[in-house]
Amino acid sequence: MKRFGVLTSGGDTPGMNAAVRAVLKAGLNKGYNVLGIYHGFKGLIDGRIEQLQYPDVHNIIDRGGTILRTARSQDFRSEEGQQKAVEVMQAYNMDGLIVIGGDGSFNGANALAKRGICTVGIPGTIDNDLGYTDFTIGFDTAINNVMSEISKIRDTMRAHDRVGVVEVMGRNCGDIALWAGLVGPADIILLPESPMSWDDAAKQLMVNKLKGRFTSMVIIAEGAGHADDFVDFLKQKTDVEAKAVVLSYIQRGGDPSTADRVLATRLGAKAVDLIEQGVMGGRAVGIRNNAIIDVSLDEALNTKKVFNEELYRLNSIMSKF
Ligand code: F6P
Repeated sequence: MKRFGVLTSGGDTPGMNAAVRAVLKAGLNKGYNVLGIYHGFKGLIDGRIEQLQYPDVHNIIDRGGTILRTARSQDFRSEEGQQKAVEVMQAYNMDGLIVIGGDGSFNGANALAKRGICTVGIPGTIDNDLGYTDFTIGFDTAINNVMSEISKIRDTMRAHDRVGVVEVMGRNCGDIALWAGLVGPADIILLPESPMSWDDAAKQLMVNKLKGRFTSMVIIAEGAGHADDFVDFLKQKTDVEAKAVVLSYIQRGGDPSTADRVLATRLGAKAVDLIEQGVMGGRAVGIRNNAIIDVSLDEALNTKKVFNEELYRLNSIMSKF
């Protein structure tokens, strides 16, 4: 019987379950046994593996998190850990492995590919920081989560004539802040990729106040600094009253959006096609111009993420009043 494994790794993301479901259903449809590996690469090394069946993925497409659990494994970073993982895969007669996660997980998948394992990566991270694909699974849900929180925060800021400074996730990538900021909307977006200094942002908030706009919203990507620090900075430089809100894990949970469910389903099915073809060297699936693509894991990891200047420029127009 042909069989392959599937695992989720790194930070969880809404839509991971939808991807696991798609992988299982596409795999069973092609006559595979699909093995669920629990707790990421650590679970692979430890042999936490169970065969998945249809009931395991019943009613999970609408659930955040991951039924396979996830982890960031130190053990797997060593040569010994990777060798152990290969041995476990051989012991289970796995023909391949599908890894759902972000760049750290893709590095792990690539290490196994270099050891001769048929490995396919599915991009699952709210950060949208992988340059080879237009979108990663979870990003759309995360920006929807951020938008709905911004609306609530704006209500109370407006009631007190305050400035809301909302910190969002994304590591070194500002996409969550940029997209949610454009339509949240935010008056100021502070990003790791953009040139706006904290001084300029403070001046802008003062100008807003002079023009009679007492409530402004600022979104700060975690890669550009912390909301608390920016609020302290505003205290020293301006007379606006600002409050910091760190959205944290709220933006990573909840039921996945339609866009994420569709993306996860398309990418999951494509990953199984590649396993069936027995692709070697490591591949990653993704989406470009709404077409599903696959590239080598090397290319996926080395393609620089291009900053979306168009959206940033658009925001500078849309935030005027
Ligand atoms: O990579 C996803 C992400 O949510 C980042 O945006 C964030 O910086 C990080 O993970 C948080 O990691 P942890 O779950 O380990 O706190």
